[in-house]
Amino acid sequence: MTRKILVLPGDGIGPEITAQASRVLAACQARGLDIEVEEAPVGGAAYDAEGSPLPESTLAKARAADAILLGAVGGPKWDKLEDIGKRPEKGLLGLRKELGLFGNLRPALLYPQLAEASSLKPELVAGLDIMIVRELTGGIYFGQPRGIEERDGQRVGYNTYVYSEAEIERIGRVAFEMAQKRGKKLCSVDKANVLEVTMLWREVMERLAPEYPDVELSHMYVDNAAMQLVRAPKQFDVVVTGNMFGDILSDAAAMLTGSIGMLPSASLNESGQGMYEPCHGSAPDIAGQNIANPLATILSVAMMLRYSLGEAELAERIEAAVGQVLDDGLRTADIASTGTETVTTEAMGDAVLAAFEAQ
Ligand code: NAD
Ligand code: IPM
Ligand code: MN
Repeated sequence: MTRKILVLPGDGIGPEITAQASRVLAACQARGLDIEVEEAPVGGAAYDAEGSPLPESTLAKARAADAILLGAVGGPKWDKLEDIGKRPEKGLLGLRKELGLFGNLRPALLYPQLAEASSLKPELVAGLDIMIVRELTGGIYFGQPRGIEERDGQRVGYNTYVYSEAEIERIGRVAFEMAQKRGKKLCSVDKANVLEVTMLWREVMERLAPEYPDVELSHMYVDNAAMQLVRAPKQFDVVVTGNMFGDILSDAAAMLTGSIGMLPSASLNESGQGMYEPCHGSAPDIAGQNIANPLATILSVAMMLRYSLGEAELAERIEAAVGQVLDDGLRTADIASTGTETVTTEAMGDAVLAAFEAQ
């Protein structure tokens, strides 16, 4: 059966990095992977072309796709848009919400070749392999009421941090199951010393624990978790947390692996449909220069093959190809040591393809 893949390049470096990842997808196709690939606009590019960051036609194609590959959205050009519903980021949030992509997997894995590129000492990160499970369709990102309004003669802004038991249980199960397949350690990150919503979060995680007796559950406050991530990151195996804490902690964890340009992600719904994207943004500061690191996006293709297409072997082949180019010393600027030679986005794509073909 032919599977449908939708590619959403987006803004900034989005088109540059998805172009390289699409070449890897095409190489899989040439090896017999039965897929049909289509592109559609999202984010600022879609707003400019059609007046909406998530046009109906893009959403319809996304619903019909077996898997989606997204580059990144956003940029200074659209930051001044008054209507928050028209902002590029709303295109991404709308896709996540509309498709019910509540389970966000963000693996922070250190390729040993990049130990020197990490912002921590090599001995602190050698062998680092953390899976952050971030709840993606709830929490303060989506809670109601929200807004900016006039109160007592001045404007106030407000958002609502809310999770239902069902939402917590659903992401908790994803995390416990992930821990069972990995090192059997799960750390739930919250702010249960202050926020009721995360007191409930902690309670639900505790309630689930007896169903997964082989998993050791621990809890940590988010401020401590941020500190522990940069103090001794290897203490973590699987981390489960809410939408906003997960956003912040995953960017911090990314740097431990050398660069945010190395961190892929999968966002899954209850029927196994997934959207795959690098954890980083549209990097307006380097857009259009052919210097962005495409590896997070290429590794997101590997996650797509593993989690949505049931093609673990092809996924491993891509990951091995990435390992090979790093062994060969290829570095985009973000992962290069000072003074060493760097390659372009495109040259990195060429090298991954060549390594993929050579296997
Ligand atoms: P960012 O991740 O775009 O960039 C942060 C820094 O990391 C920049 O210096 C950038 O050059 C660098 N960087 C990011 N990806 C890189 C790569 N692949 N290779 C080399 N360097 C890379 O975050 P930001 O600057 O806070 O946000 C810029 C825009 O992106 C904003 O509009 C924001 O809303 C949006 N954003 C989108 C997504 C997404 O689409 N998933 C994620 C985060 C931010
Ligand atoms: C991410 C991004 C998004 C988020 C933004 C662009 C909406 O930072 O995917 O990490 O906050 O989830
Ligand atoms: Mn983020």
